[in-house]
Amino acid sequence: MRLIALTILTLLSVVARAEAPWGTVDLKAGEALHKKDCVACHVKMYGGDGSKMYTRDGRALSDKLELLQRVGACNAQMSSGWFPEEEANVAAWLNKKYYHFDK
Ligand code: HEC
Repeated sequence: MRLIALTILTLLSVVARAEAPWGTVDLKAGEALHKKDCVACHVKMYGGDGSKMYTRDGRALSDKLELLQRVGACNAQMSSGWFPEEEANVAAWLNKKYYHFDK
């Protein structure tokens, strides 16, 4: 019984994520976190303010979910211990500023 309930919950959350990878977000907090934990490494690679990482040709991301997953992957690499809400804040901020995915 428990296993079934768990499976259903997991499926539901996957569906919810696919529809709306992030819900209510705090864009300001996302911007601040990104500045604190993310920019330096991208700057080292691309110079400037590092934003070329997000605007370079041939980038691989094509929707919000992939963006959110990429933020999660970069975050995991540096083990800054962000909560999922924090990843969502940053992903949403990056989307607003650079990616403009509407799905
Ligand atoms: C230790 C270095 C490093 C840090 C720190 C880092 N990144 Fe990255 N990031 C990379 C590298 C390398 C790539 C390119 C990977 C590739 O080409 O597949 C990348 C790519 C990305 C991309 C995809 C860019 C695109 O459109 O192709 C996003 C989004 C991103 N990082 C977000 C973040 C966020 C958010 C953080 C802070 C949690 C962060 N990164 C911290 C190294 C880093």
